[in-house]
Amino acid sequence: MTEDVYIEDLASHVGDHVRIKGWLYNRRGSKRIQFLELRDGSGIVQAIVSEADVPADVFALAGSLEQESSLIVEGAVRAHPKQEGVFELGVDALTLVAAPSREYPISNKEHGVEFLMDHRHLWLRSKRQHAILRVRAEIIAAVRAYFDDHGFTLIDAPIFTPNACEGTSTLFETDYHGSPAYLTQSGQLYMEAAAAAFGRAYCFGPTFRAEKSKTRRHLAEFWMVEPEVAFMDLEGDMDLAEDFVRSVVRRVLERRAPELKVLERDTTKLEALDGPFPRIRYDEAIRILQEAGQDTKIGDDFGADDETLIASHFDRPVMVTHYPMEQKAFYFKKDPNDPTRALCMDMLAPEGYGEIIGGGQREDDLATLDAAIEAHKLPMEAFDWYRDIRRYGGFPHAGFGLGIERMVAYVCGIHHVREAIPFPRMLSRLSP
Ligand code: 4AD
Ligand code: MG
Repeated sequence: MTEDVYIEDLASHVGDHVRIKGWLYNRRGSKRIQFLELRDGSGIVQAIVSEADVPADVFALAGSLEQESSLIVEGAVRAHPKQEGVFELGVDALTLVAAPSREYPISNKEHGVEFLMDHRHLWLRSKRQHAILRVRAEIIAAVRAYFDDHGFTLIDAPIFTPNACEGTSTLFETDYHGSPAYLTQSGQLYMEAAAAAFGRAYCFGPTFRAEKSKTRRHLAEFWMVEPEVAFMDLEGDMDLAEDFVRSVVRRVLERRAPELKVLERDTTKLEALDGPFPRIRYDEAIRILQEAGQDTKIGDDFGADDETLIASHFDRPVMVTHYPMEQKAFYFKKDPNDPTRALCMDMLAPEGYGEIIGGGQREDDLATLDAAIEAHKLPMEAFDWYRDIRRYGGFPHAGFGLGIERMVAYVCGIHHVREAIPFPRMLSRLSP
């Protein structure tokens, strides 16, 4: 009996006669033999059609197939004579499901990135994009597994929100039945409420920033995972972030080696994450920049190049803590030893990937929080529910947010976050 199989499962079908349903990725051939590169979403296999093995009309069909024709192919699975772990199909039957009605726009030649982005719905079929998005799916599975296995409860945060979380300059405003509402910048404030109800909570979903800047690290819509823990301080937050990132990277290394190979990722750089992550204070980061010849001084914000420079001193992610309060969001707890500093941390990835995590300890004193809300000129009434978390059994707590696309870009070793999400939304892109 001929079984329907997926290409990624061929290893356990050597010698079997199987059926594969997919699309033609590439074709080369000669008078007597056609090599069809067939993809089915799970992988790519070389299907070999020999003139001697098939009826003349089937051989003629094989030689006329165009890229992205959808096909059903049957044949015997055999191990590649030279490459270990590679399998091929000796074809004896071939059915064309549908030939493309137009020439497929993405070929083997070089295309500009805007052209590829305009054809993102098709570009997803290409080897590299396929590998990146499989790594993304693995990262998301690893993220969920980590928190689910460590006592966290998944609490989904809303997307329409009445107030800002991360500053008012990057809010997307919408019309909510005649009143303004904003697309969420972060689920954090809701996770703080959840921490009081569940102890350890996390949310994972899309978040939105009306970023006016075009950089390789910014999207208008990105996915963020945000854990929040009751009775945890900054130190505990860093321990959690470190263990979490290490565990996610380890799982990707274990389960997505073929994809990382397609991406030509130097995995020794990721294996270095097994050691402890360095932790430095903001002032030390400033010193690193000054010693590298920058004229940065205490009080300055870090740009992308500064983050790259700081992180280049370490071979694994570094956590930078105690930034000046005025650079940070209203909700951070002030350092009791120096109230001009926030009990915050940013995790900066090496190799130029910049900040992948932002988080820290939250202000748990209502009067201090109120002063911060006022100092940031935020509307007090919109935060009344949030202030309740301090009114009814205030508690020290901390958490963080990891941007999935920045993590994917880092793990895959790709230059721009636009390839780390299936359909990117950026300053000048809303389609496809
Ligand atoms: O540092 P951010 O703004 O922190 C927060 O939103 C906190 N409320 C999270 C928390 O403590 N629960 O964002 C967190 C992470 C960044 O480190 C980065 O990885 C990612 O979200 N991020 C973006 N990713 C892509 N495009 C953007 N425009 C991003 N802005 C932030
Ligand atoms: Mg940040």
